[in-house]
Amino acid sequence: MDAGAEPCSDVTSFLYLKSAFLAMEPAHFLISLARQAGGGSITTKVQTFILEDCIKDIVGKGTELNNKYIKNILQKLIVAVESTSDIVVEDLYEKFAYYLTIQLDDQLLEENNRIYKQITFLLSLGQKCSSAMDLKVPLQCSLNMLEGDTGCALWPSSLFLSEFILSYQEVFSKKFCFEQIGSGVGLVGIALLHVGASRVECKYLPWESASKRELQDYGPEIILGADVIYDPHCIPHLVRVLSALLSPTSSEPKGNGANCCGPTQDTDDVDKLIRNKEEEAPVAYIATVIRNQKTFDYFLRVAAESPLSVLDITEMMKPSMSLLPYMLSYDRSSVHLLKVSFLCN
Ligand SMILES: C[S@@+](CC[C@H](N)C(=O)[O-])C[C@H]1O[C@@H](n2cnc3c(N)ncnc32)[C@H](O)[C@@H]1O
Repeated sequence: MDAGAEPCSDVTSFLYLKSAFLAMEPAHFLISLARQAGGGSITTKVQTFILEDCIKDIVGKGTELNNKYIKNILQKLIVAVESTSDIVVEDLYEKFAYYLTIQLDDQLLEENNRIYKQITFLLSLGQKCSSAMDLKVPLQCSLNMLEGDTGCALWPSSLFLSEFILSYQEVFSKKFCFEQIGSGVGLVGIALLHVGASRVECKYLPWESASKRELQDYGPEIILGADVIYDPHCIPHLVRVLSALLSPTSSEPKGNGANCCGPTQDTDDVDKLIRNKEEEAPVAYIATVIRNQKTFDYFLRVAAESPLSVLDITEMMKPSMSLLPYMLSYDRSSVHLLKVSFLCN
């Protein structure tokens, strides 16, 4: 989203700025939101807000990487303000000088590459209610996208899936939800708890070795996965795991009468797609960025050879509004949402 594209109120634009700062958005996006909050320039009010409301909020929670981030933001801010006729507030120079002089321990930076982020889902937007109802999720993430078999970083599909869960709360409320297929830093699990899922399981589950029996014993009602379709070697295992979790022989999914359902033929029927009545069989919602079309096609092929139906429900289930409008680095349009269910003969 272009920061200047949507006019927003003073309060909203300051909320965006703070939310973006706490989410550790890249400096150029933050500067753009700072300009938007100042009505086109980074006014002294905006600078003071960054010092008083944003930076202060992170003191005591952040890591060495957060200090590095703040130093960089302050530097970019000063450069941006100095390049105009606006005045740089004295405290901004002082704060920058402070971050210049504190030791950024290279050893610590190397050993602990975690950064503290707070992802704020703006549930209050357009609701005429206080920002107290916004969901604030503190996370420790790695900047190394490959660390922990890619599970230590935050991926866009988990932002998308969390927005989906928070937008269709009734689908997940009081359900046993299972995010053992690559839960990463746990954002989706927290969103599920927020909407009142009856049980949320996030465990280490290697797809290759998980036994059918073990998987069937879980008996979840809803299975979730974000950004798990990317390695062709793992795809047959992933499909096997999904088939076992969704299979009619799974031990009694809570609240389930009939155990299997065919593919939804009437894909225009949004109600059918979101309904979560007692008799509905378990389903999986998988959010994915298609980085390699061949890999994605391979997933569809393997799924087609198994008893699974895969529907792309991205367009139909688009949340009416973004809950992360300040996250300019997050390209929502790159994510697809798939609904996977077990096919009857
Ligand atoms: C790209 S990350 C996505 C993490 C998280 N869902 C998110 O969206 O932020 C992929 C996840 O799939 C998990 N994964 C990949 N291959 C796996 C396998 N063979 N068995 C179990 N988990 C696997 C990784 O450990 C990681 O948590």
